[in-house]
Amino acid sequence: MATIKMASVCFSCGRARLLSDASLVFRSGELTAIIGPSGSGKSTLIKCLTTTHRPTSGAVTVGGKDIWKDKRAYRLALGYVPQDDIIHPQLTVEQAFTYAGRLRLDTGMDDEALDKRIKTIASLLSLSEAMNRRIFRLSGGQRKRGNIGVELLADPDIIILDEPASGLDPGTEEDLVKLLASLARLGRTVVMTIHSMEHLGMADKIVMVASGRVIFCGTRPELLAHFQVPHPAEVFKVVRSKDIESWVNRYRSSALAGRAAGD
Ligand SMILES: Nc1ncnc2c1ncn2[C@@H]1O[C@H](COP(=O)(O)OP(=O)(O)OP(=O)(O)O)[C@@H](O)[C@H]1O
Ligand SMILES: [Mg+2]
Repeated sequence: MATIKMASVCFSCGRARLLSDASLVFRSGELTAIIGPSGSGKSTLIKCLTTTHRPTSGAVTVGGKDIWKDKRAYRLALGYVPQDDIIHPQLTVEQAFTYAGRLRLDTGMDDEALDKRIKTIASLLSLSEAMNRRIFRLSGGQRKRGNIGVELLADPDIIILDEPASGLDPGTEEDLVKLLASLARLGRTVVMTIHSMEHLGMADKIVMVASGRVIFCGTRPELLAHFQVPHPAEVFKVVRSKDIESWVNRYRSSALAGRAAGD
């Protein structure tokens, strides 16, 4: 059971404050979607959750322990797919999966079991046909799925993905979000950022960030009610119509904020 708690997390770079006072809880069994305009701080939030950025103030804890206290153990329990590619372009998908499996999986796993696991992941991500192709010869969407596969191989308790659906066609995107929702159902803690608003209904929780502030955390119906819009796609336009402080205040004075912070 891995519950991640962000308590009043701020992250600054020089004078620029990229994330302010984020208090959120991510529970096992939940798929959380982080949304917000480009440059709003989604990747910054993800980086604070993955020990890529150390919060300037506040803390990220798992089971009450600061993730920076035992960073190695935390990274082992974590599958993190950053926004940019992580796998070597010259490798074939099969090689990338095999090396990742050897590095991350139980050393006692024999070749046959690893091979079976690789085939399962490839099939889950519709990559079976591409296994012998080199990464640099894949399409953007296939490459993205290759990066995801490398992280899913070790079956981590916590799965954090920054724009996993970028470059995917709508059908493949839907399949991917379904897969992530099913991993959450199996008890994993799954957090993703996403630009498309189409599949938010599959997320248990949606977090919205704008200008480095958390301005919403709740379900899809709560999102529509909070911003008084008929469809999530209209939330961005509504958010732009008022200054950010008023959205922060509206969120903080709602029951949603206390619940999101785990109070
Ligand atoms: N290392 C850095 N130094 C200074 N500013 C940064 C740094 N990294 C990001 N930023 C700025 O912080 C803000 C938030 O960036 P972030 O990458 O978190 O946005 P995002 O919501 O993930 O955007 P996108 O949807 O385009 O991926 C942006 O204004 C960005 O220019
Ligand atoms: Mg980003």
